[in-house]
Amino acid sequence: MNLLSAKNISHSFDYELFSNVSLELMAGESVAIIGMSGSGKSTLLHIFSTLLAPKEGSVRIMDEDIASMSTKRLSEMKRNDLGLVFQAHYLFNGFSAYENLEVAEILSLNSIDMNLLERLGIAQVIEKKVTQLSGGQQQRVSIARVLTKKPKLIFADEPTGNLDKETANEVMQLFFDYCRDESAGMILVTHDNELAHMCQHVYKLENRELVKVA
Ligand SMILES: Nc1ncnc2c1ncn2[C@@H]1O[C@H](COP(=O)(O)OP(=O)(O)OP(=O)(O)O)[C@@H](O)[C@H]1O
Ligand SMILES: [Mg+2]
Repeated sequence: MNLLSAKNISHSFDYELFSNVSLELMAGESVAIIGMSGSGKSTLLHIFSTLLAPKEGSVRIMDEDIASMSTKRLSEMKRNDLGLVFQAHYLFNGFSAYENLEVAEILSLNSIDMNLLERLGIAQVIEKKVTQLSGGQQQRVSIARVLTKKPKLIFADEPTGNLDKETANEVMQLFFDYCRDESAGMILVTHDNELAHMCQHVYKLENRELVKVA
Protein backbone atom coordinates (compact mmCIF):
# COMPACT_ATOMS: atom_id res chain seq x y z
CA MET A 1 0.00 0.00 0.00
CA ASN A 2 1.13 3.52 -0.75
CA LEU A 3 1.22 5.42 2.54
CA LEU A 4 2.50 8.74 1.31
CA SER A 5 2.88 10.27 -2.09
CA ALA A 6 4.29 13.78 -2.43
CA LYS A 7 4.52 15.37 -5.85
CA ASN A 8 6.43 18.45 -7.00
CA ILE A 9 6.57 20.14 -3.62
CA SER A 10 8.05 23.63 -3.44
CA HIS A 11 8.39 25.85 -0.43
CA SER A 12 9.94 29.19 0.43
CA PHE A 13 10.13 31.49 3.42
CA ASP A 14 12.40 34.48 2.65
CA TYR A 15 13.94 32.57 -0.27
CA GLU A 16 13.17 29.32 -2.03
CA LEU A 17 14.11 26.38 0.18
CA PHE A 18 13.41 23.57 -2.30
CA SER A 19 11.34 22.89 -5.40
CA ASN A 20 9.99 19.92 -7.30
CA VAL A 21 10.42 17.53 -4.41
CA SER A 22 8.68 14.19 -4.91
CA LEU A 23 8.68 11.19 -2.59
CA GLU A 24 6.80 7.91 -2.25
CA LEU A 25 6.56 5.80 0.88
CA MET A 26 5.15 2.27 0.87
CA ALA A 27 3.85 0.27 3.84
CA GLY A 28 6.66 -1.30 5.85
CA GLU A 29 9.27 1.05 4.37
CA SER A 30 11.57 3.58 5.98
CA VAL A 31 13.09 6.60 4.27
CA ALA A 32 15.81 8.86 5.64
CA ILE A 33 16.33 12.50 4.69
CA ILE A 34 19.76 13.97 5.32
CA GLY A 35 21.17 17.39 4.50
CA MET A 36 22.98 20.36 6.01
CA SER A 37 21.55 22.39 8.85
CA GLY A 38 19.16 24.95 7.37
CA SER A 39 18.61 23.03 4.12
CA GLY A 40 14.90 22.66 4.91
CA LYS A 41 14.59 19.09 6.25
CA SER A 42 12.28 19.96 9.14
CA THR A 43 10.20 22.19 6.88
CA LEU A 44 9.80 19.33 4.42
CA LEU A 45 8.80 16.98 7.23
CA HIS A 46 6.21 19.52 8.41
CA ILE A 47 4.78 19.56 4.89
CA PHE A 48 4.71 15.76 4.62
CA SER A 49 3.07 15.45 8.03
CA THR A 50 0.22 17.92 7.24
CA LEU A 51 1.43 20.63 9.63
CA LEU A 52 2.41 23.06 6.88
CA ALA A 53 0.87 23.66 3.47
CA PRO A 54 3.44 23.74 0.65
CA LYS A 55 3.61 26.71 -1.73
CA GLU A 56 3.26 24.27 -4.61
CA GLY A 57 2.66 20.57 -5.08
CA SER A 58 0.48 17.96 -3.45
CA VAL A 59 0.72 15.47 -0.63
CA ARG A 60 -1.47 12.38 -0.47
CA ILE A 61 -1.58 10.25 2.66
CA MET A 62 -3.14 6.81 2.32
CA ASP A 63 -4.62 7.99 -0.95
CA GLU A 64 -6.26 11.11 0.41
CA ASP A 65 -5.20 14.54 -0.79
CA ILE A 66 -4.34 16.59 2.31
CA ALA A 67 -5.25 19.94 0.71
CA SER A 68 -8.80 18.85 -0.01
CA MET A 69 -9.52 17.16 3.32
CA SER A 70 -11.97 18.69 5.81
CA THR A 71 -10.55 19.95 9.11
CA LYS A 72 -12.42 17.17 10.87
CA ARG A 73 -11.02 14.44 8.66
CA LEU A 74 -7.55 15.91 8.95
CA SER A 75 -7.57 15.93 12.75
CA GLU A 76 -8.98 12.41 12.75
CA MET A 77 -6.10 11.29 10.55
CA LYS A 78 -3.55 13.11 12.73
CA ARG A 79 -4.97 11.51 15.86
CA ASN A 80 -5.27 7.97 14.53
CA ASP A 81 -2.72 7.45 11.78
CA LEU A 82 0.16 9.90 12.12
CA GLY A 83 2.95 9.68 14.67
CA LEU A 84 5.05 12.82 15.05
CA VAL A 85 8.39 12.64 16.84
CA PHE A 86 9.89 16.10 16.58
CA GLN A 87 12.90 18.00 17.88
CA ALA A 88 10.82 19.82 20.46
CA HIS A 89 8.74 17.04 21.99
CA TYR A 90 5.62 18.35 23.59
CA LEU A 91 5.16 16.29 26.73
CA PHE A 92 2.85 17.62 29.42
CA ASN A 93 5.24 18.87 32.07
CA GLY A 94 2.96 18.83 35.09
CA PHE A 95 2.28 15.11 34.62
CA SER A 96 4.28 11.98 35.17
CA ALA A 97 5.72 10.10 32.20
CA TYR A 98 3.05 7.44 32.70
CA GLU A 99 0.24 9.99 32.67
CA ASN A 100 1.59 11.30 29.39
CA LEU A 101 1.29 7.81 27.94
CA GLU A 102 -2.23 7.47 29.34
CA VAL A 103 -3.26 10.43 27.19
CA ALA A 104 -2.24 8.49 24.08
CA GLU A 105 -3.91 5.40 25.45
CA ILE A 106 -7.22 7.21 25.95
CA LEU A 107 -7.14 9.04 22.62
CA SER A 108 -6.27 5.97 20.58
CA LEU A 109 -8.02 3.23 22.59
CA ASN A 110 -4.80 1.21 22.60
CA SER A 111 -3.15 0.07 25.80
CA ILE A 112 0.30 0.99 27.05
CA ASP A 113 2.73 -1.76 26.15
CA MET A 114 5.05 -2.44 29.10
CA ASN A 115 7.36 -4.36 26.82
CA LEU A 116 7.79 -1.21 24.74
CA LEU A 117 8.77 0.75 27.86
CA GLU A 118 11.28 -1.96 28.78
CA ARG A 119 12.80 -1.84 25.32
CA LEU A 120 13.04 1.93 25.49
CA GLY A 121 14.70 1.65 28.90
CA ILE A 122 12.15 3.90 30.60
CA ALA A 123 10.09 1.35 32.56
CA GLN A 124 11.93 2.26 35.78
CA VAL A 125 11.35 6.00 35.51
CA ILE A 126 7.79 5.94 34.24
CA GLU A 127 6.23 7.20 37.51
CA LYS A 128 8.48 10.27 37.61
CA LYS A 129 7.35 13.75 36.62
CA VAL A 130 8.47 14.76 33.15
CA THR A 131 10.56 17.59 34.66
CA GLN A 132 12.51 15.03 36.72
CA LEU A 133 13.63 13.12 33.62
CA SER A 134 16.77 13.70 31.59
CA GLY A 135 16.44 15.06 28.06
CA GLY A 136 17.07 11.63 26.58
CA GLN A 137 14.52 10.01 28.89
CA GLN A 138 11.94 12.63 27.88
CA GLN A 139 12.70 11.90 24.25
CA ARG A 140 12.11 8.19 24.82
CA VAL A 141 8.83 8.88 26.67
CA SER A 142 7.65 10.92 23.69
CA ILE A 143 8.59 8.03 21.39
CA ALA A 144 6.64 5.64 23.63
CA ARG A 145 3.68 8.00 23.52
CA VAL A 146 3.74 8.10 19.74
CA LEU A 147 4.06 4.31 19.36
CA THR A 148 1.27 3.70 21.89
CA LYS A 149 -1.06 5.27 19.33
CA LYS A 150 0.01 2.63 16.80
CA PRO A 151 0.33 5.11 13.91
CA LYS A 152 0.44 4.00 10.27
CA LEU A 153 2.99 6.66 9.43
CA ILE A 154 5.84 7.93 11.60
CA PHE A 155 7.52 11.27 10.98
CA ALA A 156 10.65 11.53 13.06
CA ASP A 157 12.91 14.58 13.21
CA GLU A 158 16.20 13.66 14.90
CA PRO A 159 14.32 11.30 17.24
CA THR A 160 17.52 10.08 18.84
CA GLY A 161 19.32 13.43 18.91
CA ASN A 162 19.58 13.44 22.72
CA LEU A 163 20.72 9.83 23.04
CA ASP A 164 24.11 8.14 23.23
CA LYS A 165 25.00 5.94 20.27
CA GLU A 166 24.11 2.63 21.89
CA THR A 167 20.70 3.79 23.13
CA ALA A 168 20.08 5.53 19.79
CA ASN A 169 20.69 2.29 17.91
CA GLU A 170 18.32 0.37 20.18
CA VAL A 171 15.63 3.00 19.76
CA MET A 172 16.05 2.98 15.98
CA GLN A 173 15.81 -0.80 15.93
CA LEU A 174 12.54 -0.46 17.79
CA PHE A 175 11.21 1.87 15.08
CA PHE A 176 12.27 -0.53 12.34
CA ASP A 177 10.70 -3.52 14.10
CA TYR A 178 7.54 -1.49 14.61
CA CYS A 179 7.33 -0.63 10.88
CA ARG A 180 7.84 -4.26 9.93
CA ASP A 181 5.36 -5.69 12.44
CA GLU A 182 2.62 -3.11 11.87
CA SER A 183 3.26 -2.52 8.13
CA ALA A 184 3.81 1.12 9.01
CA GLY A 185 6.08 3.59 7.24
CA MET A 186 8.64 6.01 8.60
CA ILE A 187 10.26 9.18 7.32
CA LEU A 188 13.34 9.95 9.38
CA VAL A 189 15.21 13.25 9.32
CA THR A 190 18.74 13.02 10.67
CA HIS A 191 22.25 14.48 10.50
CA ASP A 192 23.68 11.05 11.20
CA ASN A 193 24.76 9.31 8.01
CA GLU A 194 25.14 5.93 9.67
CA LEU A 195 21.67 6.12 11.15
CA ALA A 196 20.23 7.23 7.82
CA HIS A 197 21.67 4.20 6.09
CA MET A 198 19.78 1.89 8.44
CA CYS A 199 16.70 2.97 6.43
CA GLN A 200 15.74 1.31 3.14
CA HIS A 201 16.08 4.51 1.14
CA VAL A 202 18.21 7.59 1.75
CA TYR A 203 17.60 11.03 0.25
CA LYS A 204 19.65 14.18 0.55
CA LEU A 205 18.28 17.71 0.53
CA GLU A 206 20.92 19.75 -1.24
CA ASN A 207 20.95 22.72 -3.63
CA ARG A 208 17.16 23.00 -3.21
CA GLU A 209 16.59 19.48 -4.50
CA LEU A 210 15.82 16.15 -2.90
CA VAL A 211 18.18 13.61 -4.43
CA LYS A 212 18.19 9.86 -3.83
CA VAL A 213 21.61 8.77 -2.55
CA ALA A 214 20.93 5.17 -1.50
N1 LIG B 1 8.37 29.40 10.15
C1 LIG B 1 9.44 29.90 9.51
N2 LIG B 1 9.46 31.18 9.08
C2 LIG B 1 10.52 31.68 8.41
N3 LIG B 1 11.63 30.97 8.12
C3 LIG B 1 11.67 29.69 8.52
C4 LIG B 1 10.58 29.09 9.24
N4 LIG B 1 10.91 27.79 9.51
C5 LIG B 1 12.14 27.61 9.00
N5 LIG B 1 12.60 28.73 8.41
C6 LIG B 1 13.88 28.89 7.71
O1 LIG B 1 13.98 27.90 6.70
C7 LIG B 1 15.28 27.36 6.66
C8 LIG B 1 15.22 25.85 6.81
O2 LIG B 1 14.81 25.51 8.11
P1 LIG B 1 14.61 24.00 8.58
O3 LIG B 1 14.24 24.05 10.02
O4 LIG B 1 13.67 23.35 7.66
O5 LIG B 1 16.07 23.42 8.36
P2 LIG B 1 16.69 22.01 8.75
O6 LIG B 1 17.28 21.42 7.52
O7 LIG B 1 15.69 21.22 9.50
O8 LIG B 1 17.88 22.44 9.73
P3 LIG B 1 18.48 21.68 11.05
O9 LIG B 1 19.29 20.54 10.51
O10 LIG B 1 19.32 22.72 11.67
O11 LIG B 1 17.34 21.26 11.91
C9 LIG B 1 16.09 28.06 7.73
O12 LIG B 1 16.83 29.08 7.11
C10 LIG B 1 15.04 28.63 8.64
O13 LIG B 1 15.46 29.83 9.24
MG1 LIG C 1 15.56 20.61 11.51
